[in-house]
Amino acid sequence: MKDRFLRACRREPTDVTPVWFMRQAGRYMPEYRELRKKHTLLEICRTPELALEVTLQPLKLGMDAAILFADILLVLEPMGASFEFAKGEGPVIHEPIRTRAAIDKLRVFEAEEGLPHVLEAIRLIRRELDGKTPLIGFAGAPFTIASYMIEGGKSSDYRLTKQMMWCEPETWSVLMTKISEVVRRYLRAQVEAGAQAIQLFDSWIGALSPDDYRDHVAPHVRHILKDIESTGVPVIHFGTNTSTLLEQQRDAGGTVIGVDWRVRLGEAWKRIGYDRAIQGNLDPMLLLAPPAVAERHVRAVIAEAGGRPGHIFNLGHGIVPEIPVENVKAMIDLIHSIPLAKASA
Ligand code: CP3
Repeated sequence: MKDRFLRACRREPTDVTPVWFMRQAGRYMPEYRELRKKHTLLEICRTPELALEVTLQPLKLGMDAAILFADILLVLEPMGASFEFAKGEGPVIHEPIRTRAAIDKLRVFEAEEGLPHVLEAIRLIRRELDGKTPLIGFAGAPFTIASYMIEGGKSSDYRLTKQMMWCEPETWSVLMTKISEVVRRYLRAQVEAGAQAIQLFDSWIGALSPDDYRDHVAPHVRHILKDIESTGVPVIHFGTNTSTLLEQQRDAGGTVIGVDWRVRLGEAWKRIGYDRAIQGNLDPMLLLAPPAVAERHVRAVIAEAGGRPGHIFNLGHGIVPEIPVENVKAMIDLIHSIPLAKASA
């Protein structure tokens, strides 16, 4: 059993630094692109056997954890907000949620009813992994999900999202309360189905000021994390652009805090406190850099952790499709070749 990942979540010593990569299953892999010729992304997510196949694809590269193949937007459909992944455009929500009336119609569903195929995929993956590699389940955090619902897709400035937050705080709060209860139930069901760790993706939270995070977001994140942490599985609380929010994120919860490359890992850990584990934080584009440059940065990240138990190596955000598979394999091999005792030397 590869237990490095779960040991590091609990801040127990490991032989070398455990590693997995966000978006480790996806378009950079030829096998995934092959499968995508026959099935849409949503078909893969909705068919447990296909989700299983894709979840396992990257593991031959040597990752210390598997992550369930799904998407943070899957909760939209059972809530009553239909969407699609349009070619070249990313997600498109058919009728963006912008009024109190639209929010009142959103359903707070039970995962067993709304997303049974995801839970079935988790059971299948656990059976197939047979205890060899731990499985991470995940969901999007309320702000990140709300931003897609309100904007109708990806946004660069979150104008409509912030407008609702400031102009109609009561409406905003009803929406955030509904999403966070959906996510709480969904993650709890994932743990019950067999997920051995959970990552909460608050990918776009760095768009907010510290005070807005405190007033309009943190209570909702806390509602989710308090409950999921009480199940005993480690929870990774991840965001990008969060160097101004780290202490507040920590206070909102998480066994492990996930950070990106815009902050030095050592500084982030010191601010978060050594009673939490940390995940991160290589710039994903370094997987496209010359090997010697990538190696220098990998060694620098591991040195920032100072040999302290509780560091999980990851990128600061997801792998992009242009990254060569060999570079991913080489980086994992490099990380696994660095003995931890020497990391701080
Ligand atoms: O990490 C993994 O390997 C597990 C699978 C996973 C996917 N999405 C599959 C996917 C995970 C963890 C996600 C999370 C996700 N989805 C996030 C949070 C992480 C992040 O990147 O910040 C967000 C914001 C989404 C929403 C989403 N899904 C967008 C904006 C897009 C389109 C942009 C893009 O990359 O094409 C997706 C599509 C998506 N989800 C793909 C994959 C592999 C693209 C591949 C395809 O079209 O086949």
